[in-house]
Amino acid sequence: MVGPAAGIGHQRHMAIVQRPHGRHERNRLSRLAKGVEGSAQCGTILDGLHGQSLAVIERVAASNEGQRGESRKDIIVSMSGGKPHIIVFANEKGGSGKSTTAVHTAVALTVSGHKVAAIDLDTRQKTLARYFENREATTKRREAELETPVYVVLDPLTPEALDQEIARLSVGQDFLIIDTPGRDDPVARAAIARADTLVTPINDSFVDLDLIGQVDPESFRVSKPSFYAELIWDLRKERARADGATVDWVVLRNRLQHLDAHNMRRVGAALAELSKRVGFRTVPGLSERVIYRELFPRGLTLLDKKHLGGFSVSHVAARQELREMISSFALPTHEAAQRELSFA
Ligand SMILES: Nc1ncnc2c1ncn2[C@@H]1O[C@H](COP(=O)(O)OP(=O)(O)OP(=O)(O)O)[C@@H](O)[C@H]1O
Ligand SMILES: [Mg+2]
Repeated sequence: MVGPAAGIGHQRHMAIVQRPHGRHERNRLSRLAKGVEGSAQCGTILDGLHGQSLAVIERVAASNEGQRGESRKDIIVSMSGGKPHIIVFANEKGGSGKSTTAVHTAVALTVSGHKVAAIDLDTRQKTLARYFENREATTKRREAELETPVYVVLDPLTPEALDQEIARLSVGQDFLIIDTPGRDDPVARAAIARADTLVTPINDSFVDLDLIGQVDPESFRVSKPSFYAELIWDLRKERARADGATVDWVVLRNRLQHLDAHNMRRVGAALAELSKRVGFRTVPGLSERVIYRELFPRGLTLLDKKHLGGFSVSHVAARQELREMISSFALPTHEAAQRELSFA
Protein backbone atom coordinates (compact mmCIF):
# COMPACT_ATOMS: atom_id res chain seq x y z
CA MET A 1 0.00 0.00 0.00
CA VAL A 2 1.46 3.36 -0.96
CA GLY A 3 -0.04 6.49 0.55
CA PRO A 4 0.84 10.18 0.48
CA ALA A 5 3.56 10.87 3.02
CA ALA A 6 2.40 14.46 3.43
CA GLY A 7 -0.89 13.26 4.91
CA ILE A 8 -4.46 13.60 3.96
CA GLY A 9 -4.82 17.35 4.36
CA HIS A 10 -2.24 18.14 1.71
CA GLN A 11 -3.46 15.72 -0.86
CA ARG A 12 -5.89 16.66 -3.59
CA HIS A 13 -6.71 13.07 -4.44
CA MET A 14 -6.18 10.81 -1.53
CA ALA A 15 -6.72 7.44 -3.07
CA ILE A 16 -4.06 5.04 -1.91
CA VAL A 17 -2.44 3.20 -4.78
CA GLN A 18 -2.66 -0.54 -4.63
CA ARG A 19 0.59 -2.05 -5.86
CA PRO A 20 0.56 -5.80 -6.28
CA HIS A 21 3.76 -7.32 -4.94
CA GLY A 22 5.26 -10.17 -6.92
CA ARG A 23 4.09 -12.24 -9.87
CA HIS A 24 1.52 -14.24 -7.87
CA GLU A 25 -0.35 -11.15 -6.65
CA ARG A 26 -0.15 -9.51 -10.07
CA ASN A 27 -1.71 -12.58 -11.66
CA ARG A 28 -4.51 -12.67 -9.10
CA LEU A 29 -5.26 -8.99 -9.60
CA SER A 30 -5.29 -9.32 -13.34
CA ARG A 31 -7.64 -12.35 -13.18
CA LEU A 32 -9.89 -10.43 -10.85
CA ALA A 33 -9.81 -7.28 -12.96
CA LYS A 34 -10.93 -9.30 -15.98
CA GLY A 35 -13.89 -10.68 -14.02
CA VAL A 36 -14.78 -7.28 -12.64
CA GLU A 37 -14.46 -5.47 -15.93
CA GLY A 38 -16.81 -7.96 -17.52
CA SER A 39 -19.55 -7.07 -15.07
CA ALA A 40 -22.07 -4.29 -14.80
CA GLN A 41 -20.78 -3.47 -11.32
CA CYS A 42 -17.29 -2.64 -12.52
CA GLY A 43 -17.48 1.10 -11.80
CA THR A 44 -19.06 0.65 -8.41
CA ILE A 45 -16.58 -1.94 -7.26
CA LEU A 46 -13.49 -0.13 -8.41
CA ASP A 47 -14.59 3.38 -7.42
CA GLY A 48 -15.08 2.43 -3.81
CA LEU A 49 -11.99 0.32 -3.41
CA HIS A 50 -9.05 2.63 -3.74
CA GLY A 51 -6.20 1.38 -1.65
CA GLN A 52 -7.85 -1.83 -0.56
CA SER A 53 -5.92 -5.05 -0.32
CA LEU A 54 -6.48 -7.76 -2.88
CA ALA A 55 -8.39 -9.77 -0.29
CA VAL A 56 -10.91 -6.96 0.21
CA ILE A 57 -11.28 -6.32 -3.51
CA GLU A 58 -11.86 -10.00 -4.11
CA ARG A 59 -14.44 -10.33 -1.36
CA VAL A 60 -16.41 -7.31 -2.58
CA ALA A 61 -16.24 -8.49 -6.18
CA ALA A 62 -17.33 -12.01 -5.21
CA SER A 63 -20.10 -10.70 -3.00
CA ASN A 64 -21.45 -8.49 -5.78
CA GLU A 65 -21.34 -11.45 -8.14
CA GLY A 66 -23.24 -13.48 -5.59
CA GLN A 67 -25.93 -10.86 -5.39
CA ARG A 68 -26.42 -11.11 -9.14
CA GLY A 69 -26.85 -14.86 -8.79
CA GLU A 70 -23.63 -15.69 -10.61
CA SER A 71 -20.83 -18.02 -9.59
CA ARG A 72 -19.59 -17.39 -6.06
CA LYS A 73 -16.94 -20.07 -5.79
CA ASP A 74 -14.28 -17.68 -4.52
CA ILE A 75 -16.42 -15.82 -2.04
CA ILE A 76 -14.62 -16.98 1.06
CA VAL A 77 -11.34 -15.15 1.20
CA SER A 78 -10.21 -14.75 4.77
CA MET A 79 -7.97 -11.81 5.52
CA SER A 80 -7.19 -12.80 9.00
CA GLY A 81 -5.77 -16.33 8.81
CA GLY A 82 -7.61 -18.08 11.64
CA LYS A 83 -8.18 -14.99 13.78
CA PRO A 84 -11.71 -13.61 13.93
CA HIS A 85 -12.64 -10.92 11.46
CA ILE A 86 -12.96 -7.68 13.47
CA ILE A 87 -15.81 -5.33 12.56
CA VAL A 88 -15.71 -1.97 14.30
CA PHE A 89 -18.72 0.38 14.28
CA ALA A 90 -17.41 3.89 14.76
CA ASN A 91 -18.40 7.49 14.25
CA GLU A 92 -17.63 10.10 16.85
CA LYS A 93 -20.88 11.80 15.94
CA GLY A 94 -23.46 10.62 18.46
CA GLY A 95 -26.70 8.92 17.52
CA SER A 96 -25.74 7.90 13.99
CA GLY A 97 -26.85 4.27 14.39
CA LYS A 98 -23.64 2.49 15.48
CA SER A 99 -25.26 0.38 18.20
CA THR A 100 -28.38 -0.41 16.15
CA THR A 101 -26.37 -1.63 13.17
CA ALA A 102 -23.77 -3.39 15.37
CA VAL A 103 -26.48 -5.38 17.17
CA HIS A 104 -28.25 -6.32 13.93
CA THR A 105 -24.98 -7.39 12.32
CA ALA A 106 -23.94 -9.44 15.37
CA VAL A 107 -27.31 -11.22 15.54
CA ALA A 108 -27.43 -11.81 11.75
CA LEU A 109 -24.00 -13.44 11.84
CA THR A 110 -24.90 -15.48 14.93
CA VAL A 111 -28.18 -16.85 13.58
CA SER A 112 -26.47 -17.72 10.31
CA GLY A 113 -24.18 -20.11 12.15
CA HIS A 114 -21.10 -18.04 12.93
CA LYS A 115 -19.37 -17.75 16.27
CA VAL A 116 -19.64 -14.11 17.24
CA ALA A 117 -18.40 -12.08 20.20
CA ALA A 118 -19.11 -8.41 20.83
CA ILE A 119 -17.30 -5.77 22.86
CA ASP A 120 -19.07 -2.60 24.01
CA LEU A 121 -16.67 0.34 24.39
CA ASP A 122 -19.46 2.72 25.34
CA THR A 123 -19.02 2.05 29.04
CA ARG A 124 -21.40 4.85 29.96
CA GLN A 125 -24.47 4.15 27.82
CA LYS A 126 -23.67 0.45 27.22
CA THR A 127 -26.35 0.35 24.52
CA LEU A 128 -25.04 -2.81 22.85
CA ALA A 129 -24.71 -4.69 26.14
CA ARG A 130 -28.08 -3.42 27.38
CA TYR A 131 -29.63 -4.55 24.09
CA PHE A 132 -28.27 -8.08 24.59
CA GLU A 133 -29.32 -8.11 28.27
CA ASN A 134 -32.85 -7.27 27.13
CA ARG A 135 -32.60 -10.06 24.57
CA GLU A 136 -31.58 -12.58 27.22
CA ALA A 137 -34.44 -11.41 29.47
CA THR A 138 -36.91 -11.92 26.58
CA THR A 139 -35.45 -15.37 25.97
CA LYS A 140 -36.22 -16.30 29.59
CA ARG A 141 -39.57 -14.54 29.82
CA ARG A 142 -40.98 -16.02 26.63
CA GLU A 143 -39.02 -19.25 26.78
CA ALA A 144 -37.95 -18.31 23.30
CA GLU A 145 -34.90 -19.37 21.37
CA LEU A 146 -33.15 -16.12 20.66
CA GLU A 147 -29.54 -16.67 19.78
CA THR A 148 -27.30 -14.07 21.38
CA PRO A 149 -23.60 -13.53 20.80
CA VAL A 150 -21.10 -13.53 23.64
CA TYR A 151 -20.73 -9.91 24.80
CA VAL A 152 -18.75 -7.83 27.27
CA VAL A 153 -18.44 -4.21 28.29
CA LEU A 154 -14.75 -3.32 28.30
CA ASP A 155 -13.45 -2.70 31.81
CA PRO A 156 -11.15 -0.88 32.38
CA LEU A 157 -11.52 1.29 29.31
CA THR A 158 -7.90 1.23 28.14
CA PRO A 159 -6.19 0.19 24.90
CA GLU A 160 -4.29 -2.51 26.85
CA ALA A 161 -7.53 -3.97 28.22
CA LEU A 162 -8.95 -3.90 24.68
CA ASP A 163 -6.04 -5.94 23.37
CA GLN A 164 -6.42 -8.43 26.22
CA GLU A 165 -10.15 -8.75 25.59
CA ILE A 166 -9.62 -9.18 21.84
CA ALA A 167 -7.06 -11.92 22.55
CA ARG A 168 -9.37 -13.63 25.08
CA LEU A 169 -12.49 -13.47 22.89
CA SER A 170 -10.68 -14.40 19.70
CA VAL A 171 -10.41 -18.06 20.62
CA GLY A 172 -12.82 -19.99 18.42
CA GLN A 173 -14.73 -16.94 17.16
CA ASP A 174 -15.38 -16.11 13.52
CA PHE A 175 -16.29 -12.47 14.10
CA LEU A 176 -15.59 -9.88 16.73
CA ILE A 177 -17.95 -6.89 16.71
CA ILE A 178 -16.84 -3.73 18.50
CA ASP A 179 -19.29 -0.91 19.21
CA THR A 180 -17.69 2.44 20.06
CA PRO A 181 -19.04 5.57 21.79
CA GLY A 182 -20.21 8.68 19.93
CA ARG A 183 -17.23 10.77 20.98
CA ASP A 184 -13.50 10.92 20.34
CA ASP A 185 -11.89 8.38 22.61
CA PRO A 186 -8.42 6.81 22.71
CA VAL A 187 -9.84 3.30 23.05
CA ALA A 188 -12.20 3.84 20.10
CA ARG A 189 -9.14 4.93 18.09
CA ALA A 190 -7.30 1.78 19.16
CA ALA A 191 -10.29 -0.30 18.06
CA ILE A 192 -10.36 1.38 14.64
CA ALA A 193 -6.67 0.58 14.19
CA ARG A 194 -7.46 -3.10 14.83
CA ALA A 195 -10.46 -3.31 12.47
CA ASP A 196 -10.63 -5.50 9.38
CA THR A 197 -13.92 -3.86 8.44
CA LEU A 198 -14.73 -0.39 9.76
CA VAL A 199 -18.39 0.61 9.49
CA THR A 200 -19.27 4.28 9.91
CA PRO A 201 -23.01 4.87 9.94
CA ILE A 202 -23.99 8.43 9.20
CA ASN A 203 -27.37 10.08 9.31
CA ASP A 204 -28.27 11.28 5.87
CA SER A 205 -27.60 14.92 6.57
CA PHE A 206 -24.90 17.49 5.80
CA VAL A 207 -24.52 17.98 9.55
CA ASP A 208 -23.26 14.39 9.90
CA LEU A 209 -21.34 14.52 6.64
CA ASP A 210 -19.41 17.54 7.95
CA LEU A 211 -17.20 15.24 10.07
CA ILE A 212 -16.00 13.47 6.95
CA GLY A 213 -16.02 16.27 4.42
CA GLN A 214 -16.96 19.90 4.05
CA VAL A 215 -19.12 21.06 1.17
CA ASP A 216 -19.33 24.34 -0.71
CA PRO A 217 -22.46 26.20 0.50
CA GLU A 218 -23.58 27.12 -3.02
CA SER A 219 -22.71 24.11 -5.15
CA PHE A 220 -22.75 21.40 -2.44
CA ARG A 221 -19.54 20.06 -4.03
CA VAL A 222 -16.96 18.71 -1.60
CA SER A 223 -14.42 21.40 -0.70
CA LYS A 224 -12.19 19.34 1.58
CA PRO A 225 -12.11 16.23 3.73
CA SER A 226 -12.66 16.85 7.46
CA PHE A 227 -11.00 15.82 10.68
CA TYR A 228 -12.67 12.44 11.05
CA ALA A 229 -11.49 11.39 7.59
CA GLU A 230 -7.99 12.52 8.60
CA LEU A 231 -8.19 10.52 11.80
CA ILE A 232 -9.22 7.35 9.95
CA TRP A 233 -6.49 7.97 7.39
CA ASP A 234 -3.86 8.16 10.13
CA LEU A 235 -5.19 5.05 11.87
CA ARG A 236 -5.15 3.12 8.60
CA LYS A 237 -1.53 4.14 8.07
CA GLU A 238 -0.76 3.02 11.63
CA ARG A 239 -2.38 -0.34 10.90
CA ALA A 240 -0.50 -0.75 7.62
CA ARG A 241 2.76 -0.04 9.44
CA ALA A 242 1.90 -2.46 12.25
CA ASP A 243 0.99 -5.56 10.25
CA GLY A 244 0.59 -4.52 6.62
CA ALA A 245 -3.19 -5.02 6.70
CA THR A 246 -5.67 -2.66 5.10
CA VAL A 247 -8.96 -1.67 6.66
CA ASP A 248 -12.08 -1.88 4.53
CA TRP A 249 -13.82 1.39 5.46
CA VAL A 250 -17.53 1.29 4.78
CA VAL A 251 -19.74 4.34 5.16
CA LEU A 252 -23.35 3.38 5.76
CA ARG A 253 -26.12 5.85 5.15
CA ASN A 254 -28.67 5.58 7.93
CA ARG A 255 -32.15 6.96 8.49
CA LEU A 256 -32.69 7.62 4.80
CA GLN A 257 -35.86 9.61 4.25
CA HIS A 258 -37.18 8.75 0.83
CA LEU A 259 -39.66 11.63 0.95
CA ASP A 260 -36.71 14.02 0.95
CA ALA A 261 -35.25 12.82 -2.35
CA HIS A 262 -33.51 16.14 -2.97
CA ASN A 263 -31.41 15.94 0.19
CA MET A 264 -30.74 12.24 -0.39
CA ARG A 265 -29.37 12.97 -3.86
CA ARG A 266 -27.15 15.83 -2.70
CA VAL A 267 -25.72 13.91 0.25
CA GLY A 268 -25.26 10.89 -2.05
CA ALA A 269 -23.34 12.96 -4.59
CA ALA A 270 -21.08 14.46 -1.91
CA LEU A 271 -20.40 10.99 -0.48
CA ALA A 272 -19.57 9.59 -3.91
CA GLU A 273 -17.05 12.38 -4.45
CA LEU A 274 -15.55 11.99 -1.00
CA SER A 275 -15.31 8.22 -1.24
CA LYS A 276 -12.84 8.54 -4.10
CA ARG A 277 -10.73 11.11 -2.31
CA VAL A 278 -10.73 9.55 1.13
CA GLY A 279 -10.87 5.85 0.23
CA PHE A 280 -14.09 4.46 1.66
CA ARG A 281 -17.00 2.75 0.02
CA THR A 282 -20.58 3.80 0.53
CA VAL A 283 -23.07 0.98 0.93
CA PRO A 284 -26.87 0.85 0.80
CA GLY A 285 -28.18 2.04 4.11
CA LEU A 286 -31.22 1.79 6.30
CA SER A 287 -34.32 3.90 5.95
CA GLU A 288 -35.87 5.84 8.77
CA ARG A 289 -38.22 3.29 10.35
CA VAL A 290 -40.06 3.40 13.65
CA ILE A 291 -39.44 -0.30 14.17
CA TYR A 292 -35.71 0.29 14.81
CA ARG A 293 -36.67 2.40 17.81
CA GLU A 294 -39.16 -0.11 19.19
CA LEU A 295 -37.02 -3.25 19.22
CA PHE A 296 -34.61 -2.32 22.04
CA PRO A 297 -36.72 -3.01 25.19
CA ARG A 298 -37.17 -6.65 24.15
CA GLY A 299 -33.71 -6.93 22.65
CA LEU A 300 -35.27 -8.07 19.38
CA THR A 301 -33.94 -7.53 15.90
CA LEU A 302 -35.62 -7.61 12.53
CA LEU A 303 -34.35 -11.18 12.19
CA ASP A 304 -36.59 -12.40 14.98
CA LYS A 305 -39.58 -12.69 12.71
CA LYS A 306 -41.52 -15.07 14.97
CA HIS A 307 -41.31 -12.72 17.93
CA LEU A 308 -42.05 -9.40 16.29
CA GLY A 309 -45.84 -9.84 16.13
CA GLY A 310 -47.98 -8.27 13.42
CA PHE A 311 -45.37 -8.82 10.73
CA SER A 312 -46.16 -6.30 7.99
CA VAL A 313 -45.10 -5.28 4.51
CA SER A 314 -42.89 -2.62 6.03
CA HIS A 315 -41.11 -5.34 8.07
CA VAL A 316 -40.45 -7.28 4.88
CA ALA A 317 -38.94 -4.19 3.27
CA ALA A 318 -36.88 -3.47 6.39
CA ARG A 319 -35.48 -7.03 6.43
CA GLN A 320 -34.60 -6.75 2.76
CA GLU A 321 -32.70 -3.54 3.51
CA LEU A 322 -30.88 -5.19 6.35
CA ARG A 323 -29.93 -8.16 4.21
CA GLU A 324 -28.52 -5.82 1.58
CA MET A 325 -26.62 -3.88 4.23
CA ILE A 326 -24.94 -7.00 5.62
CA SER A 327 -24.18 -8.45 2.17
CA SER A 328 -22.62 -5.17 1.17
CA PHE A 329 -20.13 -5.47 4.06
CA ALA A 330 -18.64 -8.34 2.01
CA LEU A 331 -17.62 -10.26 5.10
CA PRO A 332 -15.69 -13.53 4.91
CA THR A 333 -18.69 -15.65 5.88
CA HIS A 334 -19.06 -19.41 5.42
CA GLU A 335 -20.83 -20.06 2.17
CA ALA A 336 -23.65 -22.10 3.70
CA ALA A 337 -24.14 -19.40 6.29
CA GLN A 338 -24.17 -16.77 3.59
CA ARG A 339 -27.32 -18.40 2.24
CA GLU A 340 -28.84 -18.25 5.70
CA LEU A 341 -28.04 -14.55 5.81
CA SER A 342 -30.89 -14.09 3.41
CA PHE A 343 -33.13 -14.88 6.43
CA ALA A 344 -36.10 -15.09 4.09
N1 LIG B 1 -32.84 3.48 10.62
C1 LIG B 1 -33.37 3.99 11.74
N2 LIG B 1 -34.65 4.42 11.77
C2 LIG B 1 -35.19 4.94 12.90
N3 LIG B 1 -34.51 5.10 14.03
C3 LIG B 1 -33.24 4.72 14.06
C4 LIG B 1 -32.59 4.14 12.93
N4 LIG B 1 -31.30 3.85 13.27
C5 LIG B 1 -31.16 4.22 14.55
N5 LIG B 1 -32.31 4.74 15.04
C6 LIG B 1 -32.56 5.31 16.37
O1 LIG B 1 -31.64 6.41 16.49
C7 LIG B 1 -31.16 6.51 17.82
C8 LIG B 1 -29.63 6.40 17.81
O2 LIG B 1 -29.26 5.11 17.35
P1 LIG B 1 -28.05 4.33 18.01
O3 LIG B 1 -28.16 4.31 19.48
O4 LIG B 1 -27.91 3.05 17.29
O5 LIG B 1 -26.88 5.33 17.57
P2 LIG B 1 -25.38 5.39 18.12
O6 LIG B 1 -24.56 5.90 16.99
O7 LIG B 1 -25.00 4.08 18.70
O8 LIG B 1 -25.50 6.47 19.24
P3 LIG B 1 -24.35 6.88 20.31
O9 LIG B 1 -23.38 7.73 19.56
O10 LIG B 1 -25.10 7.65 21.36
O11 LIG B 1 -23.75 5.61 20.81
C9 LIG B 1 -31.83 5.38 18.60
O12 LIG B 1 -32.97 5.94 19.22
C10 LIG B 1 -32.22 4.38 17.52
O13 LIG B 1 -33.33 3.61 17.91
MG1 LIG C 1 -24.23 3.63 20.63
